[in-house]
Amino acid sequence: MSRSRRFIICAGPVLAMALFFSSAGDGAAQQKGDVAAGKVKYQQLCASCHGVTGKGDGVAAKALNPKPRNHTDAKYMKTITDEYIAKITKLGGVAVGKSPLMPPWGGVLSDADLQNLVAFMRSLAK
Ligand code: HEC
Repeated sequence: MSRSRRFIICAGPVLAMALFFSSAGDGAAQQKGDVAAGKVKYQQLCASCHGVTGKGDGVAAKALNPKPRNHTDAKYMKTITDEYIAKITKLGGVAVGKSPLMPPWGGVLSDADLQNLVAFMRSLAK
């Protein structure tokens, strides 16, 4: 009896800490995308309009009105959340009341791809 009680007293805080850190870890893993992987996708799918460096000056941008967003504009990028960026990337401009010229990419991107792209776009605006 006293032995098991001692175990509970000793192990309790350790278990609580382990749970806390493991759940905090999971949250961070979901939030933080891989910038390098996001860059690869961005060059494949987004650079034609948004430009190789994300300035909104891709080869197709000339023909577009409104222009593709400049992702290096830190002042503007601060006004939008990661969730919003992931949403417009997945569902397209129309889904958030923006131009249909921003296409939906949900069909070709996994949730991990979306997080990686968000991380890459965040890395452009310092
Ligand atoms: C065919 C051209 C085109 C391609 C390709 C494209 N976009 Fe866009 N994107 C646009 C245009 C145009 C806008 C501006 C929409 C507006 O302001 O109404 C835009 C806006 C955005 C915005 C900003 C939304 C806002 O509120 O300003 C994000 C974020 C974005 N695009 C991400 C991406 C990502 C990520 C990719 C690649 C997976 C991508 N775009 C590919 C044309 C494109």
